[in-house]
Amino acid sequence: MSTAEIPAGLKELLHRYTVEVLRHRPANLVEFAVQHFTQVLESQRHQKPGDKKRGGKAARKGVTFATDEKALEDKEGKEEEEPVKSTTGKYNRRVSVCAEAYDPDEDQDDDSEPRIVHPKTDGQRRRLQDACRDILLFKTLEQEQFSEVLDAMFEVQVKAQEHIIDQGDDGDNFYIIEKGVYDILVEKEGVSVRVGKYDNKGSFGELALMYNTPRAATIVATEAGALWGLDRATFHRLIVKNNAKKRRMYEAFVECVPLLKCLELSERMKIVDVLGARSFKDGERIIAQGDTADCFFIVESGQVRVTIESKAKAGQQDHAEVEVARCSRGQYFGELALVTNKPRAASVYAVGLTKCLVIDIQAFERLLGPCKEIMKRNISQYEEQRVALFGSSMDLKH
Ligand code: CMP
Repeated sequence: MSTAEIPAGLKELLHRYTVEVLRHRPANLVEFAVQHFTQVLESQRHQKPGDKKRGGKAARKGVTFATDEKALEDKEGKEEEEPVKSTTGKYNRRVSVCAEAYDPDEDQDDDSEPRIVHPKTDGQRRRLQDACRDILLFKTLEQEQFSEVLDAMFEVQVKAQEHIIDQGDDGDNFYIIEKGVYDILVEKEGVSVRVGKYDNKGSFGELALMYNTPRAATIVATEAGALWGLDRATFHRLIVKNNAKKRRMYEAFVECVPLLKCLELSERMKIVDVLGARSFKDGERIIAQGDTADCFFIVESGQVRVTIESKAKAGQQDHAEVEVARCSRGQYFGELALVTNKPRAASVYAVGLTKCLVIDIQAFERLLGPCKEIMKRNISQYEEQRVALFGSSMDLKH
């Protein structure tokens, strides 16, 4: 059966090239390929003898976006690679570092950087821990990394109407909300549009730090509030480093999720960067009918059952729950309320030990737009099913 054996490393090599093409969108694919693979070759040549830690590693190292970018910039006589802090404390330098290509095993400099610690009272630490409880970006951190994040965070008191972030600026900090309501404004064709809000929970400001891009939105406090900030260097050292690990863990799985097939590879990888992983015990409730929705789930392992509380069914007590569906590996749930902007229309429970990937509502809005048509098709099936079961419609119009 080995008549057409695929050489080891070929798939990864082509995959990395595809990613770089998607990121740079070069006008000339062949020229870009020559440049890209020359880089790969150079890196292989510079690889220390005996350094055979991981298959395909040379290719991974050779195509780090930072290196790639530097090669392009050197050619154009542009800036240096490292970010430079200005007198205002903001980083003026933007290098498009691709978290996908960031290799934590290679990064020794980061580890020798001094740890930032902002001392906290017991009360502050408790409040901080509460605010961080549901932050998806922290869900895949090891305990030690998480403690370092908590140490490095600093409290920020916010006044009404204060701009925490301005679209187009360079990224300085990542923020977790302790309290307050914050509008999300995105400028489209010169007009500032309010695309959403954070209501006393959540986090923002990760994109500019993850991808070294300008701030993608403006965040304004609509009332006095409190935030916890995490500086760019610590975010990079702990969260971006962890993202490289996450990509290795979830890339293959995300590639197989039918819903996400309509996305481009680079878009699927951005989903991996912001997703969190949560485990649920047998019977544990994941979603409660009637609750406000703030995230979306994909089953990674195990199973969930979806139930609807029905008062309508004859012969049943109030609040009897009727099972209407099951979802297993690769299937999603929790999208309905996000698409319709209504409370959760059903409850969802784990069947056996179940692991889900979780995406928050802002990332859902930002990244899953192209999948909404597929979701809407399923939503009309829910409607039909509900009419068949309970004789009533859900009124899913929005
Ligand atoms: P960043 O680009 O660093 O700064 C602005 C932040 O707004 C961004 O990271 C996200 O965390 C957050 N945000 C929320 N919704 C959106 C959106 N629709 N588009 C872009 N950014 C968003």
